[in-house]
Amino acid sequence: MQYNFDEIIDRRDTGSLKWHYSDETIALWVADMDFKAAAPILSAVEQVMQHGILGYTKPTDALYNSIINWHGSRYDLQLEKQNILFSPGVVPSLALMMNVFTKVGEAVMVNDPIYTPFMSKVEQNGRKLVLSALKEAEGKYHLDLADIEAKIIEHEVKLYLLCNPHNPGGRVWTRDELEALLAICKKHNVAIVSDEIHQDFTLTGHTFTPFLTLAKGYEHNVVSLTSMTKTFNIAGIKGSMIFATDEALVKKISRQQQLNDEYELNLFAYTAMRSAYEHGGEWLEQALSYIEANIELTVQFLNKHLPDIKIMRPEASYLIWLDCSAYSQDDQALYDALRAAKVELSAGFKYGEEGHLKMRINVACPRALLLEGLTRMHAALGDAT
Ligand SMILES: Cc1ncc(COP(=O)(O)O)c(C=O)c1O
Repeated sequence: MQYNFDEIIDRRDTGSLKWHYSDETIALWVADMDFKAAAPILSAVEQVMQHGILGYTKPTDALYNSIINWHGSRYDLQLEKQNILFSPGVVPSLALMMNVFTKVGEAVMVNDPIYTPFMSKVEQNGRKLVLSALKEAEGKYHLDLADIEAKIIEHEVKLYLLCNPHNPGGRVWTRDELEALLAICKKHNVAIVSDEIHQDFTLTGHTFTPFLTLAKGYEHNVVSLTSMTKTFNIAGIKGSMIFATDEALVKKISRQQQLNDEYELNLFAYTAMRSAYEHGGEWLEQALSYIEANIELTVQFLNKHLPDIKIMRPEASYLIWLDCSAYSQDDQALYDALRAAKVELSAGFKYGEEGHLKMRINVACPRALLLEGLTRMHAALGDAT
């Protein structure tokens, strides 16, 4: 079936987080796409409604198999049923991992810049936040391995929260980079939790490596987190997975989840998850090619009209990291200028020190909306040089 990603669906007044405006502002911020979900997912949810019974629900073997097949066939990640736990979200799982691997007061490392909850969950849970800035070279971010190791030693870091692919920089860390990171963590007995929620948006020319595929011999200290909600644009349904291949670690995570009785998903999440992994591939393929064209269009538009914006081309995801320092010297003024022109992007400073004077644009929307948003950016910043 051919999907129409050009269709503009009004999301105002629906309780949408992204489209929270009462005016004509265009939302190009939070990582939520403006595309209708895949037909098989919608019809699976409709079937549940028609059945009419919305009682307590357990994950079925068919659901486990759909997860196992998706990750095995796409990423050569070999999972078994007992390696899979469910969680209401990847961010709740990041918080959970604090209690699995660390105690209050112990140090947790994350990169800078990073998706904001990586920092806030560490601090809110009373752990010590240790940042390692990514190094920018040749238009992309790199892990600063020397800095990572030095800070691990200095702060006695117990846990490293990795974002792969990286948000907001869009890096798909290579096998070599991940192996180098793993070697450091192994040497200093640091656990690794890899947030892989953007895995399915890996773009042409790049290869996503699930961290667990490298963890042989270190499985007791490696967990990966992922979800169908981001991939299939069903974040409002909530639901995600935790993967771990060490039996004792799975038990430990499971016991931690039981403390708050949070290890189950709702009926719609199980239904959507199975349908997405069994039948969502066709939609995803089309969405990805639409997104790649939108990324190209954005790069061309900005190169032409706002040539002093430094664009970090994503290797995964529909989020593009823009260095706007040529157009403003003040983070809030930059954000406000765009809001005044009725377009909203994510303010870079929320992603750490490295986000200073940067903005993150979400291009996963119908092309006409994107073009209007870009035009408003041009209007806001065009005279500012
Ligand atoms: C890296 C990353 N992790 C987690 C999430 C959110 O996950 P969830 O909605 O499952 O909590 C996002 C959403 O943008 C994200 O970019």
